[in-house]
Amino acid sequence: MSDKATLSLGDTTYSLNVFTGTENEQALDVRQLRKDSGLITFDDGYGNTGSCESSVTYIDGDKGILRYRGYDIAELAKKSNFLEVCLLLLNGELPSKEELTSFEQKVATFQNLPPEVLQSVQSMPAGLHPMGSLGSGLQALGGSFPHLCTNDRAKDLENFDDAAALIIASLPALAAANHRKMTGEDYKHPLSSGNYCENFLSMMFSQEGDSPINPSLSKALDLIFLLHADHEQNCSTSTCRMIASGGANPFASLAGAVSALWGPLHGGANMAVINMLNDIHQSGDDGSKFIQSAKEGKSRLMGFGHRVYRNYDPRAKILKSACDQALEALGVSSPILDIARRLEEVALQDPYFIDRKLYPNVDFYSGIILQAMGFPTNTFTVLFAIGRAPGWLAHWKEIAQTGKKIHRPRQIYQGSNLRDYKTIEDR
Ligand code: ACO
Repeated sequence: MSDKATLSLGDTTYSLNVFTGTENEQALDVRQLRKDSGLITFDDGYGNTGSCESSVTYIDGDKGILRYRGYDIAELAKKSNFLEVCLLLLNGELPSKEELTSFEQKVATFQNLPPEVLQSVQSMPAGLHPMGSLGSGLQALGGSFPHLCTNDRAKDLENFDDAAALIIASLPALAAANHRKMTGEDYKHPLSSGNYCENFLSMMFSQEGDSPINPSLSKALDLIFLLHADHEQNCSTSTCRMIASGGANPFASLAGAVSALWGPLHGGANMAVINMLNDIHQSGDDGSKFIQSAKEGKSRLMGFGHRVYRNYDPRAKILKSACDQALEALGVSSPILDIARRLEEVALQDPYFIDRKLYPNVDFYSGIILQAMGFPTNTFTVLFAIGRAPGWLAHWKEIAQTGKKIHRPRQIYQGSNLRDYKTIEDR
């Protein structure tokens, strides 16, 4: 294919460069278009817009491919673990044994919250959603380590490794501190020995005299985090990059990403899935009425469909079997898992879902595992945020290292033309 495209407008033609990524995706380069023609491109929702070149994650939505730094998600899910994947995303390469051990130690050191950060979480309004608490907690954390969040890009980059370890370590602690506050329990310090997920589960749920954390549960949680670790230019990651492009530090950039993730069409979908499955269960419907109402546009089958995947989300495939294993390890049966399986089976044979290429996404099964583990529904998105943190951080670093411009889209104005101000008496 030619590396040039031509745009004709009246008698004038404009030549646009076509460039190709390492997986042969092609893009029209419109960077000179406004300067040359006075025109902008219009792409409401950005479905056709490449906002950057990135080396973090590759997705082929039609084929159902997801790779972090070139490694297939299924292989990472089988052979790696969350903290190793954090380093892969942050640094671009799998770590050596020494690098991984040193990162694990750093994370373990940071897993206890500074007293003033703990106090700030505990003094937030009781009505605040855990995602609001998480974002505010992140900003408070930055305030406790001012040398790691200076808004001086060179300095923030120099201290990035410490900031990244601190954030990855502290998010579970912030989540657990908020959870214990909501349940009226005292903050629980991290275990003296215990891996990342064991510590988190203990800080969330452990009571005096409890037996040690079931390794199958910490393994399932580790897998959920790993599968959420990055997903290229989604809403929250783009938000993080947007904030970072203005020169803001990693704590502020991630706090913005947490807010972006909160919505029900993005990270909030895992909560919405459980609410939907519970509603179906309580109504006595076997799922068919719900499918019908989704087809009529009266509701959405939450956990189905994806802007990028027009095929089975590879993460959902892995979680579907992890879900069976986790429930078996817990020794519980879940009536909503049966409903989920039935909904999937029916939807995948229904022309409405087939024609629109709507398949289960990562949220369809993750909520069932989290619910079985005892996580309250309103913390599900917080767990997504903990998993996504290394991805946000890797994108923050990419912008800090390579971004030259502040991100600033344009618009087509469709409002009133110039008019005269009327005094309040004349309105
Ligand atoms: N249930 C029923 N119909 C659906 C669904 C669904 N879950 N998703 C899309 N459709 C239909 C739309 O009604 C539309 O139909 P039409 O062409 O007849 O009007 C068509 O499929 C295309 O839908 P869009 O909304 O244009 O697709 P888009 O790519 O913008 O949306 C999204 C993707 C937001 C994920 C959507 O599929 C959805 O709302 N899914 C449910 C929420 C969800 O699970 N979100 C999690 C996404 S994954 C993540 O963020 C981690």
